[in-house]
Amino acid sequence: MFKRLLGDRPKNAVSREKTITEEELLKQLDMTKLPEHVAIIMDGNGRWATRRGAPRSFGHRAGVNALREIVKLSVELKLKYLTVYAFSTENWKRPHEEVNILMSLLVEYLNKEIDKLCANNVRIHPMGILSELPEKAREAVDMAIRRSNNNSGLVFNVALNYGGRSELLMAVQEIGQKIISGYIKVEDINDQVIADHLYTAGQPDPDLLIRPSGDYRVSNFLLWQLAYTELWLTDTMWPDFGRKELLQALLDFQLRERRFGGLLHN
Ligand code: IPE
Ligand code: IPE
Ligand code: MG
Repeated sequence: MFKRLLGDRPKNAVSREKTITEEELLKQLDMTKLPEHVAIIMDGNGRWATRRGAPRSFGHRAGVNALREIVKLSVELKLKYLTVYAFSTENWKRPHEEVNILMSLLVEYLNKEIDKLCANNVRIHPMGILSELPEKAREAVDMAIRRSNNNSGLVFNVALNYGGRSELLMAVQEIGQKIISGYIKVEDINDQVIADHLYTAGQPDPDLLIRPSGDYRVSNFLLWQLAYTELWLTDTMWPDFGRKELLQALLDFQLRERRFGGLLHN
């Protein structure tokens, strides 16, 4: 009875069966109904490595490989925006060695991938407090921005030293400054003004948020922007998250009924 009341559609209606092929998943996908903006919390690298008796750094390296594949598929599918959570404002709490490894992997990734990313018309847009990054990381990020700035394809937001609260705090401070200088009035502040002061200014909110690793939380990611985002959670650890998993998430997204607080239009 409760099942009837709650609706018959299982929570995740798209088969997560391992044997289904990528081609079969692709065939089911409606290319006219893809999300414009996909956001991903790339989580689970450490546990993936630990389960293999390997150091966490091994998991982070495998995580970079997963990212490479997901960016490639996003380009193939012509997604407009891809936002990945690479390093949070809270991740500085980790041991120095781990932070150093994450930073050097970032530098290595950007230096190695920039030619390919540019050849695929990808524009890299970092989000976060870049001034606090180590010099080498900052240089690599600056290089990636400079090189990809004029590209018009996929916007690739990389959340680096990013925190949703820190982003909102920064927006409040900037708006406050503009009020003091008489540039805007308190009564003129609205949703749009706030959105315009976030790292994602000018971009649509994510349609779909993917979190691998079996944890069911937002971890300070895109707190404003996720207001009506569809969530897709999986136990798969990020290094194992491949093309098939992204296709499954997209297929499931296509079954969702988004209401934005209103009523369904038939
Ligand atoms: C995600 O994997 C990478 C970053 C947070 C930088 P984790 O390192 O958080 O892996 P788990 O969650 O400990 O497994
Ligand atoms: C979120 O993962 C941040 C990134 C993936 C970069 P965490 O591993 O930091 O999140 P918690 O601590 O499990 O919430
Ligand atoms: Mg984690």
